[in-house]
Order: sequence, then C-alpha cells, then structure tokens
Amino acid sequence: MPLVHMKDMLNHAHEHHYAVGAFDLVSLDFLEGILAAAERCRGPVILSLAESHFGYFDFELLISAVEAAARRASVPVAIHLDHGANLKSAVSAINRGCNGVMVDASDQPFDENLRLTREVVTVAHSCGVPVEGELGYVPGVEGEDAERHPGEIAYTTVGEAKTYVEKTGVDFLAVSIGTVHGRLRGEPKLDYRRLQQINEALGIPLVVHGGTGLSDDQFRHLIANGVAKINYYTALADAAAAMIRENARENRNGGYTGLVRGVQDAVAEEADPCMRLWGSAGRATEVLAECAPWLPVELLIVYNVAGLDAAGVQAMMAEGRRVLGVIPGVRQVATGEAVTAGADYRYSWLARFCHPAVIDSYRDHPAHVAFAGQHFRPVAGDRLTIDYQEIEAGNQNRRGIA
Ligand code: 13P
Repeated sequence: MPLVHMKDMLNHAHEHHYAVGAFDLVSLDFLEGILAAAERCRGPVILSLAESHFGYFDFELLISAVEAAARRASVPVAIHLDHGANLKSAVSAINRGCNGVMVDASDQPFDENLRLTREVVTVAHSCGVPVEGELGYVPGVEGEDAERHPGEIAYTTVGEAKTYVEKTGVDFLAVSIGTVHGRLRGEPKLDYRRLQQINEALGIPLVVHGGTGLSDDQFRHLIANGVAKINYYTALADAAAAMIRENARENRNGGYTGLVRGVQDAVAEEADPCMRLWGSAGRATEVLAECAPWLPVELLIVYNVAGLDAAGVQAMMAEGRRVLGVIPGVRQVATGEAVTAGADYRYSWLARFCHPAVIDSYRDHPAHVAFAGQHFRPVAGDRLTIDYQEIEAGNQNRRGIA
C-alpha cells in the first residue's frame, strides 16, 4: 500500500537534493501514464488534481480511481489537491482522499493570504495532512499558451516568505521566481539568487509551479536551491493532444477508443525523462523504507439501544451519518444492524478517518460533541468503542519518520 506521508516524501527529496514530480491528471489515461512512468523509473510520484480542472472531470469519481491506483502501485505515491481555493476545497479534498493540499490565495493581499492559509493549515494538520501555500504570483493557466494570460509576475520576497511560513505553519512553499504556467515561447528568466535566499531562510521544501518549458539546466538549478516538488501539466496535455491528432489523421473514421489509443504511452513518455532529470528515479525503495505509510484508522462502535423504537434508531443513525460524515478527516460513516438476531450488540457505527490524528480532532469537533451528547450516548450506554489502524500488507519492515 504505497501511499506515503507527503511531508516525509518531500522532506526526503529536500534533504537529498532531488525533486518529486507533481503531475496534474485529468483522466484515467493520464493517471495510468504517470504511474507507468513512475513504476518504470522506480521513483516516488505525486498524483495531483487541480481544482481549476474540476469542471472537466468529476473529482469524486476520478479520485476514487486515483486512490485505487495508488494502493496497487509498488512505488511511493501521494495524492494532492492543486490550487485549492479555500478551506471548503481543502476539507472536501481531504475527505475524498487527498493526503496533501495546496491552498492558493496568492492573488489576495498578503494579510488575507496569511489568514486563509492559516485557517487551512489548522484544519488540515488536525487531519494529519500537510499543506502547500503560495506566496508571490505565478501567472498563466495550465494547458494554455502563456501569452494568452500575460499577468505580471509578483516575485516572492524573502522577508514575506519568512513571516508567512512562521505565521501559517505551511509545510511547503510554492515560490514565484520567474516561472509561468502554460505553454511558453522561449525560456523564462529565473531568479536563482532569490530562490537560494528563500531556501536558506526557510529550510522547508520549496515548490515550483509552471514546470513546462524549463530547460534541463534550469531544473538542475531549481533543485540545487531547495525545490523538492515540481508541478507539471501542460507538456503532458500537449503530448496527449498530439497523439489524438495523429490518430485522427491516420484513421479518419475511428471511434473514441481509436482516437485515444496511445495517450497513456504519450503521457508516460513525457513524464519519464522528468523523473530521471529531477532525480526522483531510483528513489522508490529508500522513500518507502524511510517515509511513514499513509494508513487510515477505523473507529468501530458496537452498541445496544435503550429508549428508542426502530424508527427512532433509524433517525438517530441518519442524523449521525449527516453530521459526522462532513467532519474534516472523516472519509466515511457507515451504520449497521446485526445480521443475526440475538447478537451481543445489535447496532454498529464505522467511521473511517484518513489518519490517526483524526481520532482526537473528531472526538473534540463540535458536531461530534453535540451529536454524541444529545443523540447517541443517552440511548447507547451499552457499547464497545475501539479505534483500529489499517495494517499494511507486506510492508512490515517500513518505519515512519513523520
Ligand atoms: P505547467 O502546466 O506550466 O506545467 O504548470 C503546471 C502547474 O504549475 C500546476 O499547478
């Protein structure tokens, strides 16, 4: 089960001077292509879902596939929300399976960026999930010509970066040092001196957005100056589109599957050299050995009810599913009734948490405190409550450094 703690993954990269690719994916072909490249390179990888793409795919459906693919991968994987707008986006992403989130309030004034980011950090950390913030402004739009979105770059300053990281508690910082999202003409000019100063001042993994179009040499300089996560999308999208155009030319009457044939390979071919150049290739085994696995916890309660009829029990369970299921870090709330008449305990709750940190934050959350105090405990005095952490199959030798 190679989902790993993203903070460990990026700290490892930062410490050992390489960068992990965070590849935005928009379809199953992208997912499979990116993972095929990571398997081939034996490298850690970040499967990234950008909120700006949510109009194109159903986030809830695609992330289920991303999680299933991550669980059967043999290389270490993290699942990340890219460019989340606010706390609501972050919580929704965490509850659906992201184990890293970005809050991008970089278009806001500094104080507002700080406030919004701190809000997300408080909640995400109570779920065990690390947070990437952004300071300064990286213009452009992923997947489009950079010239079409000619916003002014706002460079990250060292002083603001220090204050921002101290006050928000972000785990990783996306910096603006000259890169631009989208398709470029020519190479952008990057401010390495600024990057070096930010890296020295902060000592946390830095992130660069707008990876498409940078030269090998530029990537090497970025990584040498603390960049441990590189966001990359437009080049993958262009490789996929070129494949589809070629299919269309060669087989004018081909159906959908004929048109998208080879897209997975085209995406893999684009991601593979990045992993090798950025130094993540060949790191899978040590990352798996040194990073904490990302394992959910199940809170199981079995109980009997006194003082409620059958309809009352159903209503109490429905209320519980409604209010408890949206608490940050709660992946699922399931209620059950014993199949066998005469079981020692007739009813069950199963709450699935994304991380052990949620045991405490769930217990203390006002929605849980109110539901348990008013609806559940008064009628369910006879109960057993146990938290179980999932046991990872086949990886007994891994140790955590989180
Ligand atoms: P590119 O599309 O320019 O590679 O940038 C991707 C990105 O930064 C996603 O956040």
